[in-house]
Amino acid sequence: MRPEVFVTRRLPALALEELSQSCQVDMWDHESPPPPYETIVARTRDKEGLLCLLTDRIDAALMDAAPGLKVISQCAVGYDNIDIQAARARHIAVGNTPGVLTEATADFAFALLMASARRIGEAIDYVRNGDWKTWGLTILLGQDVHRATLGIVGMGRIGQALARRAEGFEMRVLYSDVARQPSLEARLGVEYAAFDDLLQQADFVSLHVNLTPQTTGLIGSRELALMKQNAILINTSRGQVVDPQALYQALKSGRIAGAALDVTDPEPLPPDHRLLSLPNLIVAPHIASATESTRGRMALMAVHNLIAGLEGNPLPNPVSG
Ligand code: GLV
Repeated sequence: MRPEVFVTRRLPALALEELSQSCQVDMWDHESPPPPYETIVARTRDKEGLLCLLTDRIDAALMDAAPGLKVISQCAVGYDNIDIQAARARHIAVGNTPGVLTEATADFAFALLMASARRIGEAIDYVRNGDWKTWGLTILLGQDVHRATLGIVGMGRIGQALARRAEGFEMRVLYSDVARQPSLEARLGVEYAAFDDLLQQADFVSLHVNLTPQTTGLIGSRELALMKQNAILINTSRGQVVDPQALYQALKSGRIAGAALDVTDPEPLPPDHRLLSLPNLIVAPHIASATESTRGRMALMAVHNLIAGLEGNPLPNPVSG
């Protein structure tokens, strides 16, 4: 008998094909809307495996309702939606998809940085709205990216990949992290800075931390007040790392020049949210890893974790938290 698994969202064809060869697959065959929590519980109840996304709450109650559950395979690198302690206590293996999305995510963080610095969103609206009447010396002035100072908060895989992109723009790169990493400094030409010093010196601050109790609300009014007036904040990590009220005030008052977010709190951001009334804010719908090849590789990696766990083998990519 092939083991039964529940997959909480439509999978790319190759990954689904591979999973179907070794498992009986029950799949929520839509992108939107996502399955409600109660549906995930009901359809996981009798399964040995669960393949889920970062938007699915996977808690102790769900695990208790599924006594045969052996593996939870998250198709994302972040796994703050899963109660890891609860899984560990119940001997349920948990896997994620690190590495394969590093470059695509860093590409997107740099795209947001450039779009915000050069006001590309506003420029597109300007043309579409019929405001483009002439060429002018002071129209839509942005900021230089080349030779500016980039502050990277969280120097993991994605932070390092962003630093490599910044090198091509001759940027000075500062980083802050829980620990200094001297070997990186020589290799990537980056400088360690205490968090507050980084905020005070950077023209661009890009966030690349995991969401934990320590990083929730990491950027609030105190931190925004430390930043330069021309500074731009980029967030491709998790929405809850930034206090949305404090960000609104800082952008509205001109305390900082702009922000570009791929992740928000709440997520999705309702279309009438006051943040969306600000011209100096760009919001993308959590798509930093959304390229055809990256999403295909993430799905395959999640399938490989799931199959390994169902066969009683160590997961190729177990979560480390
Ligand atoms: C995306 O946010 C991920 O964690 O993979």
